[in-house]
Amino acid sequence: MIQVKLNLEQTFGFIPKDEILAWDKHIISAYRKIYNKTGAGNDFLGWVDLPSSITNQEIEAIENHAAELRRKSEVFVVIGIGGSYLGARAVIESMTHHFAQLNGNSGPHVIYAGQHISEDYTADLLDLLDKKDYSLAVISKSGTTTEPAIAFRLLKAHIEKKYGIEEARTRIVAITDKSRGALKQLADSEGYVSYVVPDDVGGRYSVLTPVGLLPIAVAGISIRDLIEGARKMEAMSRAVQKIHGNPIAWYAAARQALYTSGKSVEIMVNYEPRLFYFTEWFKQLYGESEGKENKGIFPAGVGFTTDLHSMGQYIQEGLRVLFETVISVESSQREMRVPMAESDLDQLNYIAGKRLSEVNHKAEQGTTLAHVDGGVPNIRISIPEISPDTIGQLIYFFEMGCALSGYMLGVNPFDQPGVEAYKKNMFALLGKKGFETQTAALKARLGE
Ligand code: PA5
Repeated sequence: MIQVKLNLEQTFGFIPKDEILAWDKHIISAYRKIYNKTGAGNDFLGWVDLPSSITNQEIEAIENHAAELRRKSEVFVVIGIGGSYLGARAVIESMTHHFAQLNGNSGPHVIYAGQHISEDYTADLLDLLDKKDYSLAVISKSGTTTEPAIAFRLLKAHIEKKYGIEEARTRIVAITDKSRGALKQLADSEGYVSYVVPDDVGGRYSVLTPVGLLPIAVAGISIRDLIEGARKMEAMSRAVQKIHGNPIAWYAAARQALYTSGKSVEIMVNYEPRLFYFTEWFKQLYGESEGKENKGIFPAGVGFTTDLHSMGQYIQEGLRVLFETVISVESSQREMRVPMAESDLDQLNYIAGKRLSEVNHKAEQGTTLAHVDGGVPNIRISIPEISPDTIGQLIYFFEMGCALSGYMLGVNPFDQPGVEAYKKNMFALLGKKGFETQTAALKARLGE
């Protein structure tokens, strides 16, 4: 059963329900493009049936390999950037003890490299790895992305020095393109176990391939339940390719209606810090998919109530171009109550005995109403609890919601041509062969 619930009551005051329903023909047409593979980017639709098509043997192979890596690693390093790490991180952090690393929890602790080029971060990481037993996955579909490639050079040298070349080979996993690409070539020549990122699955839609599944399994999270959750949402989506009866379609239609009415920034809101990276994953998925041809909703994110003390003022009273999408978690896993204090100097005794989750939910309700009163429409997406099943459902919900949104917007939701601009400049400034003309022009602009 689908447990993700969508509530648009606090949107209808801005966009009447009928106006959202008027997008139904666009939803139906977008669905047709997806399932008939007739839209732009139709060679990148492999994610659509990933949950239902992954086989038991494939899952078992990942689980067994993950178990072996878990046995010999205190730390597991995921090297990747963008879609090659955000999905795994979103799932892992949503289900890991908040203080796992300091709490003596048994490992392996999953940590990340190659998601930027910070020298200090990388040096600190190598300090840590000097002292820990570790394994790593290098994840890059293209195999040539600068950030993870630099990190892998450094970590490959480190792990080989630490364990010797033979043992290092058993501790390195490569997840990359099937046949093309530098990383595949290296994996084959070094004899690393490697997994394939299917040709027809783009990075930001790849969390349910080994890109996400292997690190998630290494973190000890049930990939079966995650896939099962996604499967349920996939089945619903395929069965109901219209707004009525389909929360994904409602969501996509509502955000398109809001965008057309001038709401061009979507803020994903969570009240659980463990969903921070889920929001990061959402930002990448929607930002790279929709933001092109001078259009697209700008995806942002906040964590409440923390950010009510920083971004709350802007959301309440700044430019009225915002709408919020709240991920609301009904039940916490742990139970904590506000204690009674004899002096009541902080005047909190009126809530003594209440669970923190109840206070958190009241904060959510109060904030929603305040922001709605301030002109910010609110989409509420609730799940009963954070679990592999519900997170799996949410993953597929947002993937399909993104594809529908991109087609309704009239863009190709599966390419990212704009990402190349910074790369070209960086290569030119670093003196890469073939970029000589740009190097001179850029240096002149920088006054060098
Ligand atoms: O979603 C995408 O396609 C990108 O964000 C890529 O995942 C990212 O650029 C990393 O690419 P690669 O896996 O080729 O290193």
